[in-house]
Amino acid sequence: MESGDFSGSRNQVQMLWHNKRKVVLVGLGAESSLNARVIANAQQAAQKTLAKTQSSQAISALALSLNNSDLSQSAVRQLASAAALASYQYTATKSHNPSSALECISIAADEAFHDAVAEGAAIGRGSNLARELGNLPGNVCTPTYLAEQAQALDKQYARLNTTVLEEAEMETLGMGALLAVSRGSRQPAKLITMEYKGAGANDKPICLVGKGLTFDAGGISLKPGAGMDEMKYDMCGAASVFGAIQMACELKLPLNIVAVVPSSENLPDGIAVKPGDVVTSMAGKTIEILNTDAEGRLILCDALEYSRRFDPEVVVDMATLTGACIIALGHHISGLMGNDDELAAELLAAGEAASDPAWRLPINDDYQQQLKSNFADIANIGGRPAGTITAACFLARFTEDYRWAHLDIAGTAWKSGAHKGATGRPVPLLSEFLLARAGK
Ligand code: BES
Ligand code: MN
Ligand code: ZN
Repeated sequence: MESGDFSGSRNQVQMLWHNKRKVVLVGLGAESSLNARVIANAQQAAQKTLAKTQSSQAISALALSLNNSDLSQSAVRQLASAAALASYQYTATKSHNPSSALECISIAADEAFHDAVAEGAAIGRGSNLARELGNLPGNVCTPTYLAEQAQALDKQYARLNTTVLEEAEMETLGMGALLAVSRGSRQPAKLITMEYKGAGANDKPICLVGKGLTFDAGGISLKPGAGMDEMKYDMCGAASVFGAIQMACELKLPLNIVAVVPSSENLPDGIAVKPGDVVTSMAGKTIEILNTDAEGRLILCDALEYSRRFDPEVVVDMATLTGACIIALGHHISGLMGNDDELAAELLAAGEAASDPAWRLPINDDYQQQLKSNFADIANIGGRPAGTITAACFLARFTEDYRWAHLDIAGTAWKSGAHKGATGRPVPLLSEFLLARAGK
């Protein structure tokens, strides 16, 4: 610092040698503006530098100056989570991998932070699972592949029980909306359920529902070509449910959780569902499909109806549901809607605490009017105005019997451009929510 080369400004990184060891200095900026996010970002900046070296092990000392307050517990959680996130590398479909030598990051911290480190690491690993599933191309990560991943988690964790429904069983259950989306695809749709039992049999489960469109071409209402590759990310809601379930399993949370993942492709074909077609959902409501590209709400409405059989305490769904959400909130904040103020407040607080924020949008009868159909009980689109809200209004028609919230993660689940890749959001928000419900 005397030399003037290092000022300690935010995320400034300087490597030096001390007693034959590399020391990475990372700036945190002004002490008065120190928070969990700053510390997590510093950890990531330091690891980015470390990844360019030949070091195989490192110790992070960032947590050593923190006292044991609620704020610092949260900071250590995010620090550990950031350490895991920073070590993620996509390699699955590359033949040459510029692999980093770093194998192990230790976090030096006071004994009081022991649980926070374990929780943060589990959140980071859960996020990385979501990122990997999101990043895998559509020809690898199919509905069948997702079902296999759910079976693999079942094998790994004793408290988890996975079941997969095939199209024939969906037919029997009357899931006409989900099956309409899947009609144009050669890949069979799957309805994946992962039941995690960490609490007593009388504890009502928290139900997590994730949109699992492993590729969304729009169907007959075909999307334009530019950027269509990114529609492999249309299963990021499902991926975050996988990530959250893995986190819960790893930490043995004392909760009951049911994950429901409807998974399908949405492609054009000679027998694909067409604009104007009317289908009957499992709930019995008829739906006029005016735009086959509004398919997420169709697979979700049958999954939400199916969720009722678990007698859930609450149901939270997440979905890359509308481009309109990106227009409303950009890529920084997820959209939150629902029918229960308390649940919404809980999720907003969890997002804030985990630096994975959401913002609530309203739903009411005025918006519901936009979904009127001349030929069915409800239309699947509500026009251009308030596209994110009318999508949630559609879902709200199928969630009247329980406390429900919906996260639109279209803007937050992945990044475009040079750093194209899945972010793992909203696994941190969901994890914080579940940890709080578990009293942690
Ligand atoms: N998966 C898309 C939403 C999306 C679009 C997410 C762009 C991220 C980036 C969804 O299935 C969709 O196509 N929604 C339509 C709805 C419209 C037809 C009412 C949309 O947003 O254009
Ligand atoms: Mn679509
Ligand atoms: Zn979609």
